[in-house]
Amino acid sequence: GIMREVMGIDIMEKKLRDILNLKEAVIVPGNSDESPWVKSELGKAAAARMKREWQGENIIAVTGGSTIAEVANMLTPATNGQNLLFVPARGGLGENVHNQANTIAAQMAHKTNASYKVLYVPDQVSDEAYQSFLKDPGIKEVFSLIKQANMVIHGIGDAMKMAERRKTPLENIKIIEEGHAVGEAFGYYFNENGEIVYKVRTVGIQLNDLKPIQSVIAVAGGTSKAKAISSYMKATPASTILITDEAAAIELIKG
Ligand code: BG6
Repeated sequence: GIMREVMGIDIMEKKLRDILNLKEAVIVPGNSDESPWVKSELGKAAAARMKREWQGENIIAVTGGSTIAEVANMLTPATNGQNLLFVPARGGLGENVHNQANTIAAQMAHKTNASYKVLYVPDQVSDEAYQSFLKDPGIKEVFSLIKQANMVIHGIGDAMKMAERRKTPLENIKIIEEGHAVGEAFGYYFNENGEIVYKVRTVGIQLNDLKPIQSVIAVAGGTSKAKAISSYMKATPASTILITDEAAAIELIKG
């Protein structure tokens, strides 16, 4: 692209870091909206960046989504001295099985020869049923592991696309729409100013839990996700490493 020729990718990365207040930005060439291989490149870059952070014991909390699924595909066995445990970042968020955090945590463990835990918390239950779920010892154990995570790897989605993909009940779609949500991450929906307009109730990592976590890596690309990325970065208390593509970066730098 023209902007890349004019600026160079490293200059773009610095600009993006400053604009979004990131810890670091990594940009891969292309537009993942248009070519599926760009999503694989995002996955590859994210996998490499994750591996660089690992030392000793690591608990890695992961979200769902097609982008993080690509990260899982690109992981390779952990090296000596790296102990890895993958856990889903949050309970059920209404995704189909391929896009679920549980599935992706298992796949990441498989690729790295490591361990994983799953969290089976249903999406739509009564308050009463939900409270009794939280008392289950198995769920409690995974829950406490999630709270000890030193790395989080997560996707960011377009708000309306995610609301539809999750088959969100109409009354909640209305709240998301009327709140002018543009971005979504961890089941939270954000407007352009980074204000939370709606949140899916479930256990696991809440937005405020991100701040003390050593490595928070977000992976999201494509022109269509620029607004979502910007809204989330305004909202998050985390100091984030963002892995994105050139198309999203150009939109974000243009502002
Ligand atoms: C979901 C996450 O599974 O994936 C969301 O729970 C995220 O928080 C979404 O926004 C991203 O999906 P994709 O397919 O665009 O990578």
